[in-house]
Amino acid sequence: MKKNLDIRIKTPEELVTLREAGHILARILEKIKSSLKIGITTREIDTAAAQMIMQENVLPAFKGYRGYPACLCISVNEEVVHGIPGDRVIKSGDIVSIDIGIIYRQYFSDMAVTVGIGELEPRYRKLLDVTRQALYKGIAQARSGARLGDVSHAIQAYAEAKGFSIVRDFVGHGIGRQLHEDPEIPNYGRPGTGPLLKPGMVLAIEPMVNMGGFQTKTLKDGWTVITADRKPSAHFEHTVAVTEQGPVILTE
Ligand code: MF3
Ligand code: CO
Repeated sequence: MKKNLDIRIKTPEELVTLREAGHILARILEKIKSSLKIGITTREIDTAAAQMIMQENVLPAFKGYRGYPACLCISVNEEVVHGIPGDRVIKSGDIVSIDIGIIYRQYFSDMAVTVGIGELEPRYRKLLDVTRQALYKGIAQARSGARLGDVSHAIQAYAEAKGFSIVRDFVGHGIGRQLHEDPEIPNYGRPGTGPLLKPGMVLAIEPMVNMGGFQTKTLKDGWTVITADRKPSAHFEHTVAVTEQGPVILTE
C-alpha cells in the first residue's frame, strides 16, 4: 500500500517532455540499427552511437551511471543485458540486443531492441518475435485501474506459453526525472496484485526472455549478464505512459 505512494505521477507538461525524449531516442536507435553489419565490433557500434547522441543535443543516460563505461549496453546471444561494448565482433546468425537511454531537458527515456544479423536460425527468430510480443502484451495491460501484476503476468504468461523462460534477476522500472524510479517492474507475477496504475505513471517495461533456463550470472567485469546455461537471450524495452486514453508508447 505504502509503496504505491512512491510512484510519481507526471504532470501533462512532464509527459510532453518525456514524449519528446522518447521520440528522439527512437530516432537514434533506428540509426544505430541501420549501422549494424557483419564484422563490426560492439565498441564501434557504441562509438557511432555516441556521435548520434551528440548530434541530437541530448546526453547518454547510462554512461557514468554507477560507473558504467559506455553509451549503450550491447548484449550478444548468450548475453542477457548490460554487455559492455568492446572487441566482440558481430557475425552472421547473431542476435544483438542494443539498450540505450538518453537525458533530454533533465528527463530520461530508455529503450532496447534485439536485432538478428544476417541469416538467423528459425528458433532465434522465434525468440525475438516472442520477446517483442511479450513486451506488447505487457504494454497492453498498462492501463489506468489495472495493477502492476497484470503487466508482469501478461509478459510471463505469453513467453512461457511459447516455451521460453523469463529472467528474474533483472526487472523494469519507473522512469522520468531519474533513469530508475519506483516501482520495480518484474516480468513475472500474479494478476490483480501490486500497485494500482494511474494516469501520469511512466514505466520502462523490459522483458528479458531466455531460450533455456531463467538463471543468469554476472561476468567478472561486474556488468555483463549471461545465461547460466549459455543459451541465447533476447531483450526488448519501451518507455510507456499510463494515460486516461490507455497506454502510450513514448519511445516511438
Ligand atoms: N535498460 C537498462 C536498465 O534500465 C540499462 C541500464 S544500464 C546502466 O537498467 F548502465 F545504466 F546501468
Ligand atoms: Co531500463
